[in-house]
Amino acid sequence: MQDKSKAWSGRFNEPVAELVKRYTASVEFDQRLAEFDIQGSLAHATMLGEQGIISAADVEAIRKGLAEILEEIRAGKFEWLLDLEDVHLNIEKRLTDKVGDAGKRLHTGRSRNDQVATDVRLWLRSVIDAVLAGIRNLQLSLLDLAELHADTVMPGFTHLQVAQPVTFGHHLLAYYEMLKRDAGRFEDCRARMNYLPLGAAALAGTSYPIDRKGVAHLLGFSGVCENSLDAVSDRDFAIEFTSAAALLMTHLSRFSEELILWSSPRFGFIDIADRFCTGSSIMPQKKNPDVPELVRGKTGRVNGHLMALLTLMKSQPLAYNKDNQEDKEGLFDTADTLLVTLEIYADLLRPPVIENDVVIKAGFKVNKEAMRLAAAEGFATATDLADYLVKKGLPFRDAHEAVALAVRSAVDRGCDLVDLSLTELQAFSPLVGEDVFDVLTLEGSLASRNHIGGTAPEQVRQAIARARQHLA
Ligand code: ARG
Repeated sequence: MQDKSKAWSGRFNEPVAELVKRYTASVEFDQRLAEFDIQGSLAHATMLGEQGIISAADVEAIRKGLAEILEEIRAGKFEWLLDLEDVHLNIEKRLTDKVGDAGKRLHTGRSRNDQVATDVRLWLRSVIDAVLAGIRNLQLSLLDLAELHADTVMPGFTHLQVAQPVTFGHHLLAYYEMLKRDAGRFEDCRARMNYLPLGAAALAGTSYPIDRKGVAHLLGFSGVCENSLDAVSDRDFAIEFTSAAALLMTHLSRFSEELILWSSPRFGFIDIADRFCTGSSIMPQKKNPDVPELVRGKTGRVNGHLMALLTLMKSQPLAYNKDNQEDKEGLFDTADTLLVTLEIYADLLRPPVIENDVVIKAGFKVNKEAMRLAAAEGFATATDLADYLVKKGLPFRDAHEAVALAVRSAVDRGCDLVDLSLTELQAFSPLVGEDVFDVLTLEGSLASRNHIGGTAPEQVRQAIARARQHLA
């Protein structure tokens, strides 16, 4: 029995089992590629016409038919049929229903293998552009916030123990730098991916006198994939994208972890705006930092997609294998997760702004007092005291020991180093003079780290200015 609805039905003498049909079909998810599939088909048809492979009348009919189909899809009126397997065959069948033989000629010199490789690249290219815009937006939020807090003192941590005072602005700029590298990775991925697979056909190229460079030009690719087997089979670009996405999410998960810690009453550094939090159904007092927690959680999800794609590609012989159909859902979900996370994060990090006369509250309130207190309580200026003694001539190791003893004595007395008197400090080293109190204050410590990359408020302002220039 022949099933005439199948593009490849001629060769088969029994219909595909219902379950297999559902198992192998991808239309439920790859219909998302429809606009790009049409874009690719239009360029392919134009080239076929220009090369005299199909007639100008056919090209015109295809153009008209595809334009109508695009309208139907955008209006949600297109009927996607599982029987037609995937986005490509659904659109081709509809085109043929509309324009007859011209529709059947569209697939000349083309295979679904080079077609899908092209569609995914076109789609991903537009996603990367949106991701880059999202990163930039988030970076701008970060810079605004850092500017507000160029002088705000907080404890810097190593091992989650108070280490040295830093400015909150400096801390925020660390994430600006991470995002800058993330953006670079997406740009690299885009540039490497932006080559046209069409023309590779099923795997070996085609015997028609096609013009691949012309199609590449029409579709905005930088050139053509130079090996047909590679063009239809490798999904390294999808892996690269997901890997860059996993890193970006990893960076945001680190930030999220900090926001979660800081918003805990134990730290009390920030108060996240209610619009990012939920309450508890049982504990009336709770306000939970759901958004950062979910960013942290969704990082696992994106990491999972990366593993899935790597595993999908591993050991696949050349050229196309149906395994590759499995690249899409993880890739789509990665893009969706990333884009929404970037958007929500830019809002979370936004300082208070006035938009259309309405004040939009900051994503979180900063409790400067709590930050300062935590820095003051943690002997954060101990290194400054050691550096002070070194500058007076003491070898660093001896200075380290003298300060350790001073810290121990302050711990015993329940006070900070700056609370010890001059005579008390001199007991640990006769090199201590009146000027020691300049370095023992938090502000003195911050101001002294005044070199590129350092935490001094002046450096933070300069770094923000450089960053703004970079983003301009
Ligand atoms: N739906 C398929 C995919 O996503 C399109 C290519 C199918 N090619 C084939 N020869 N079965 O990869």
